[in-house]
Amino acid sequence: MRAKIIGTGSYVPSSIVTNHDLEQTLDTSDKWIVERTGVKERRIAAKDEATSDLAVQAAQRALASAGISPCDVDMVIVGTTTPDMVFPSTACLVLQKLGITQSAAFDIAAACSGFLYALSVGEQYILSGKYKKVLVIGADLMSRIVDWTDRSTCVLFGDGAGAVLLAPSSDKTHGILSTHIHADGSLWNLIAVSGGGSANPPSERVLTDKLNTVKMKGGETFKAAVRTLEEVARETLCANGVALSDITYIVPHQANIRIIKAVAERLDIDMDKVVINLSRYGNTSAASIPLALDEAVRDGRIKESSLILLLAFGSGLTWGSALIKF
Ligand code: ACO
Repeated sequence: MRAKIIGTGSYVPSSIVTNHDLEQTLDTSDKWIVERTGVKERRIAAKDEATSDLAVQAAQRALASAGISPCDVDMVIVGTTTPDMVFPSTACLVLQKLGITQSAAFDIAAACSGFLYALSVGEQYILSGKYKKVLVIGADLMSRIVDWTDRSTCVLFGDGAGAVLLAPSSDKTHGILSTHIHADGSLWNLIAVSGGGSANPPSERVLTDKLNTVKMKGGETFKAAVRTLEEVARETLCANGVALSDITYIVPHQANIRIIKAVAERLDIDMDKVVINLSRYGNTSAASIPLALDEAVRDGRIKESSLILLLAFGSGLTWGSALIKF
């Protein structure tokens, strides 16, 4: 048996903030941002939108594309690093908004790797035979946790959500062929939001020192990303006895075009075989992979029998992959 993706969906807020908009408030330029990151614009959620609102929209689209009713969902997993509240989980709020009354639901915190971690967990529940329909969502409102006066981080991120619906398939040749997840806690301080949790609860000092916002060692994060993405790509290919030339598309985490190009170069894979949408959305954290995946499914690049390699890295440090035959 395999866990198969039977539906995909995504959602981004309607408000667009361009690099030129950021030039009005920051000492930055469209030229710098495009050359150093590849990002041209990003979507920013409305004041009354929370992570669960974006997640629900993406989930509804995934369910509609699969032709499945919310009441048939057995489990909802949300990969997010920007939950609506400390508790309950964003997944429980998604249940309420979808009108699901009978389902397991929880969040997974693995920052930008959150979707792949959630996919890996969802896959296990399908493979064990315990559940038949697992909704896996990646959703983040990074705009709520960046320091909008810090040009080295705020220009990178955007808001969004993506979702897939998993179901069992008896055809062993199609579906999720393998998932691989990793972490190295010794590198936790490369990128972190250290305030607001139990180590540094909300206080005047947390706000003054802006510990409630993203702090990142950009250069070191960049190098760690390129190294881990290449490693996990090779691990995945090796585990499945697959060659890079067999891959239809790589769908990588959309953090920086230079990271993606460096990984493609190390793997010696043509950039035409890499799905990229970061110029329009920036780094949407856990949403980035399912958002790019859904776009490529809907525009016909990914179709029946496409062999897709998903690659993620994020704070933690966490990283992971999935090899999927559609
Ligand atoms: N506009 C103009 N200048 C800028 C900006 C900006 N927005 N940001 C930084 N600069 C300046 C710096 O101040 C520095 O100036 P200086 O030389 O006078 O000191 C200069 O540009 C170069 O800065 P670097 O940090 O060396 O620039 P770099 O080329 O490394 O690019 C970047 C920075 C884009 C952040 C890059 O390091 C990167 O992408 N790192 C990885 C980030 C990433 O992937 N993060 C996501 C992690 S996933 C997660 O879990 C959320």
